[in-house]
Amino acid sequence: MKILVIGGNGREHAICWKVASELISGTIYAIPGNGGISEIANLVNIPIENHQEIAAFAKREKIDLTIVGPELPLADGIVDIFHKKRLKIFGPNKKAATLESSKIWAKEFMLENEIPTAGFFVADNFSTAKKIIEKVQYPVVIKFDGLAAGKGVGIVNDFQEAANFLENIFEKRVFSQTSNRVVIEEFLSGQELSYLVITDGENFVPLAPARDYKKIYENDTGPNTGGMGCYSPVPICSPEIEKVIEKRIVIPTIKGLQKKSVEYCGVVYFGLIITKNGPQVLEYNVRFGDPETEVILPRMESSILEIIELAIEGRLRNIQIKWREESAVDVVIASGGYPGEYNTGVPIDIGSLPEGVVIFHAGTKKQSDRFITTGGRVLNVVGFGNTLEEAREKAYEGVSKIHFDGMYFRKDIASL
Ligand code: AMP
Ligand code: GLY
Repeated sequence: MKILVIGGNGREHAICWKVASELISGTIYAIPGNGGISEIANLVNIPIENHQEIAAFAKREKIDLTIVGPELPLADGIVDIFHKKRLKIFGPNKKAATLESSKIWAKEFMLENEIPTAGFFVADNFSTAKKIIEKVQYPVVIKFDGLAAGKGVGIVNDFQEAANFLENIFEKRVFSQTSNRVVIEEFLSGQELSYLVITDGENFVPLAPARDYKKIYENDTGPNTGGMGCYSPVPICSPEIEKVIEKRIVIPTIKGLQKKSVEYCGVVYFGLIITKNGPQVLEYNVRFGDPETEVILPRMESSILEIIELAIEGRLRNIQIKWREESAVDVVIASGGYPGEYNTGVPIDIGSLPEGVVIFHAGTKKQSDRFITTGGRVLNVVGFGNTLEEAREKAYEGVSKIHFDGMYFRKDIASL
């Protein structure tokens, strides 16, 4: 069997690792991949934006299945191109990816389907937005409408902060030169939870819940990042809460998409917050989470390839995924300065790792015989144990074996 994985972060390394553990014979290809992925897959030198060429490669090489990691290729319609060429691919099509690529579309969808979410206003110009921020109660959350790699969301505490954030969007146009719209929404407090399901458009199977840490500094302070760590399972996600999530959020989402005739096959990632009024949706993503995947897939006992095949064939009814009891904790090691500016090309030393630790690479590449840094988030060090505490200790023991100049990691992952 030949599998192609699109993407080159920790999430895609975890996908390749899980697929490699299941393949009896076959080859894994990755575009663009990274240093860690290059040890288990063949890296293919085609730009990730060039979907036509990627599809041509898949056709030529007789790839049996392509799995898409990041949101951009999905939002740009890579799945539609593959479908036209009758190639098998896992992920939602362009229309379905709007659930992530437009916050306004997602908020209106939730409103139509009575899915619990923060109250909101929409504005498509600076002056309307300013009128809104004059009358709201602070803090509020302002969200740029399009994809912005996690940077398009501002939690603002007063009118001035709100006006500054809006100025970046409407005047400085930092996210987009052309289309600028915003959601201004009520601030919700509670614990966040990443709840992912795989759906064939009609049925769904939940993945193990995970919790990620988006802020750069300890105690959840500082700017948002792609994610500085993660753990699974999540004790606050009790079976009762899971039932509420399924009944009030997951099922209405899948039915709502059907009502709109949006065909959806892939992962739906519900970014939730557990408030005193129950779980509410902060955002939808249309793909596996990163770093969630790095703790979810190693805990999956069932075959991910089988689940994906069943999803593509529309046969997920009555399917259940088996999970290992063990806990997993991922500590992300980043380049100093991230999510702002940072150096790349820095050599990485990885000493001998203790049992119960796995490393998933993000921004690395192999140069001669060693790895060097190529990005902001560099390595995911995942520890396993019978309890979260044990898994956390393992992860930090793993981190202590790694060194590169300027490396930075949070010391409080899975302890708050
Ligand atoms: P989003 O991309 O919409 O998930 O927003 C990124 C992060 O901003 C979330 O993970 C939360 O930490 C925070 N956030 C977004 N919306 C809200 C909200 N309504 N209330 C509180 N925090 C929020
Ligand atoms: N962990 C956040 C994300 O994947 O968007």
